[in-house]
Amino acid sequence: ETVYLNGHYVPAEEAKISVFDRGFLFSDSVYEVIPFYQGVGFRLDEHLQRLEHSLRALRIELDFDWASMLSRLVALNGSGNLSVYLQVTRGSAGKRVHAIDPKLVPTIFACCQPIRDIYQEGIERVEGIKVIVTADLRWRRCDIKATCLLPNILVLQQAKEAGAQEALLLRDGTLTEGASCNFFIVERGVIYTPPIGTEILSGTTRALILELADQNGIPRQETDIDYQRLINADEVWISSSTRAIVPVLQVDDYVVGDGLKGPVWQRMFEIFTRYQHQ
Ligand code: PDD
Repeated sequence: ETVYLNGHYVPAEEAKISVFDRGFLFSDSVYEVIPFYQGVGFRLDEHLQRLEHSLRALRIELDFDWASMLSRLVALNGSGNLSVYLQVTRGSAGKRVHAIDPKLVPTIFACCQPIRDIYQEGIERVEGIKVIVTADLRWRRCDIKATCLLPNILVLQQAKEAGAQEALLLRDGTLTEGASCNFFIVERGVIYTPPIGTEILSGTTRALILELADQNGIPRQETDIDYQRLINADEVWISSSTRAIVPVLQVDDYVVGDGLKGPVWQRMFEIFTRYQHQ
């Protein structure tokens, strides 16, 4: 496995960073996870725009050709179906100090791991999941794709212990998103998802679903969703770059709809598959 670190393409074991790196000490860093199918980045521009948003929020200034680095890294890793992890930290000051030194040189790291091409595998292979609902313990800037993921990891573990695969998060009576995904509900043929803001990550898959809904005349609306609406919905879905669009068949102890993968999900999955292959 070849990884990228600060200008070098090296075997993973050879990539080393300082113990004083602020990403390590403070989670002073941001990241992206970008799917590549047959070596080609999927919605790459959208991911890079979100990366720029995250970097701006941290006031990390960088002039860097992300696309060139990523395509070289993907080629060095066989150009197959890969998810690329890209992390940028503020760098190391050689000591632990909270205050930001604007002169620090950011650490840039990227690596690849194999990803399923669920669109290629086909709709029958998609398995519905169970989710739990739990408190959203995260900070108030979830629009920044920061690496401080401890709350996300703890709620995912809570989900696992309850026999579920994801956790949807509740803040002030409203559902925000999942531990590592966005979510949708369907009521009488209309798709609903929470609006973009500082409480959720602006998912690239979420945005594409809304775009494709508009193009295909499927009604959709961005609105706040509470627990009652969630458990009474006809369909519930989650979305992310690595998992695509996954139907949720159970929320806590409630069966969603008739407990089967829903027709609107099915239609959206087919539209999504067609888009991905065009
Ligand atoms: N997670 N919300 C959160 C909190 C996420 O971590 C993610 C993605 C999403 C979906 O965004 P997108 O559709 O652009 O992947 C929403 C990535 C995959 C991860 O952390 O591994």
